[in-house]
Amino acid sequence: MPFPIHRPRRLRRTEAIRSLVRETRLSPEGFIYPLFLVPGEGKRKEIGSMPGNNQLSIDEAVKECEEIAKLGIGGVILFGIPEVKDDEASGAYHDHGIVQEGIRAIKRAVPDLLVITDVCNCEYTSHGHCGKIIEGDVDNDTTLEWLADSALSHARAGADMVAPSDMMDGRVAAIREALDGEGFEKIPIMSYAAKYASGFYGPFREAAESAPTFGDRRSYQMDPANGREAMLEMTLDFEEGADILMVKPALAYLDIIAAARQSFDVPIAAYQVSGEFSMIMAAARNGWIDKDRVMMETLTSIQRAGASIILTYFAKDAARLL
Ligand code: PBG
Repeated sequence: MPFPIHRPRRLRRTEAIRSLVRETRLSPEGFIYPLFLVPGEGKRKEIGSMPGNNQLSIDEAVKECEEIAKLGIGGVILFGIPEVKDDEASGAYHDHGIVQEGIRAIKRAVPDLLVITDVCNCEYTSHGHCGKIIEGDVDNDTTLEWLADSALSHARAGADMVAPSDMMDGRVAAIREALDGEGFEKIPIMSYAAKYASGFYGPFREAAESAPTFGDRRSYQMDPANGREAMLEMTLDFEEGADILMVKPALAYLDIIAAARQSFDVPIAAYQVSGEFSMIMAAARNGWIDKDRVMMETLTSIQRAGASIILTYFAKDAARLL
């Protein structure tokens, strides 16, 4: 028998062959682009740690959404920075809050673009935590009411999907019940099911002005050391009616994405978070890595691991390359 029988290099010889046998193909339709809405008009303020990403007033966000739709990107996820923050996160569930008004304006201008909302309180509380503080910790069950109210207000404003990111116990059930109670049974929930207490969220907290003023989020977000617990979290969210399960962050948690893909027959999403984006941008700006190459390599690996939906600050750049 001639040696070697298998020569895998045969299928790598030319780009034509490589593209024929490529197992993972990215497409802009699978990307979701995060937007940060701020009060005012004509405002477009670059987020220092996230080059190319801006805090946008609603009118500017609408322009951005027109571009995003043209690029064929799957959708946007909205975060809001309210005029005032308070202990009760009242801006989060106000029918005329920043995100609620943003949804209305975007759906009016670009009706076919999928608009998802992040459902959480940390951008709206004066202390920066994701819920009501009682005895120094976030109280689970009061926070559920705020979350359900927020999701409802988003649905009323015309959101296509809601995405709770708070990590309270029972939030998917609470939101589902609230939505169904007002006739929004057709609005899907994409839950941040396995969300870790991660150092990679640093730049986001500048973007969303949501860094906690005391303590950290470890009493509600997951310990990075735990994989089995992620399966429990995802099982609970699935059983409570989550339509899409998300893992966050992405690159340091590819094993969790792969396990989610194996275990659940719903779409799996992954969030390539702010710190993942900023690290690549910073290294590229130093000339240490090739931004486009590393951007595509990370996105490909996240999809290869099992995520068919990727929330990423690279959505526009990657869509332009594809
Ligand atoms: C809100 C929320 C956060 C992110 C998404 N939703 C911040 C946090 O939990 O501290 C992080 C996104 C990113 O880093 O890009 N709870």
